[in-house]
Amino acid sequence: MLLGETSLQYESKAAIRPLVAALVLALASTVAVRAEDAKPAADPAVANQLDPNSSEKDAKLLEKYQAVKVEDGKYFDKDGAPTYHITNDGKKFDWYAYSGYRRYHAECHVCHGPDAMGSTYAPALKDSLKRISYEEFIGIIAGGKQDISSSGTNVMPAFGDNKNVMCYADDLYTYLKARASGAMPRVRPTDKEEKPEAAKKAEKECLGG
Ligand code: HEC
Repeated sequence: MLLGETSLQYESKAAIRPLVAALVLALASTVAVRAEDAKPAADPAVANQLDPNSSEKDAKLLEKYQAVKVEDGKYFDKDGAPTYHITNDGKKFDWYAYSGYRRYHAECHVCHGPDAMGSTYAPALKDSLKRISYEEFIGIIAGGKQDISSSGTNVMPAFGDNKNVMCYADDLYTYLKARASGAMPRVRPTDKEEKPEAAKKAEKECLGG
């Protein structure tokens, strides 16, 4: 089944642009305040715009990661990679994005921080997923990663043998994409699409085999 753009309830690009402009302005004025270093507290309006809890929408990624196809409750973008589908004014998540949120917070957040925001140990995956392809993502979680060019010794473990991760690789990827584009703000998802039969079957085969 093909999805028309109108059936997907993302904010229009026109609605996002002023937000981006406001963020740029907010950043610029914060830097100015810091440089002066004399002023007391920053303008509370500016502080609100920089609130990490507000969603940072990326118009280009929202378009690139938009679902154009659905098969058995699983959504795909125009590049054929799994993607999220968020409806009901940003409140209702497809099963995989919802499941990915839960798996992420069980398996990844100890190093990568809550809501993929990053930590001093590991990078913010909400940023990594702006550039990493589906294939690269699967390769990294299966095989691990260590940046040998840096002096750091932080290691991304290989999860290739861990079914709690590998059986939910698409879920994790879908969730992290939604964080990268800003389609999903820093919220605990409350409403979700029903778990598709295909997901139940794949899970059973993956965990049992
Ligand atoms: C023990 C800590 C730890 C855990 C747990 C962990 N990671 Fe990582 N991860 C890292 C570190 C450290 C790096 C940076 C490695 C490097 O670049 O050398 C990394 C890098 C990555 C990258 C590449 C990021 C980039 O910008 O290149 C991805 C993707 C990734 N991790 C996904 C995951 C996922 C998904 C999970 C959960 C299933 C997870 N990680 C769990 C420590 C961890």
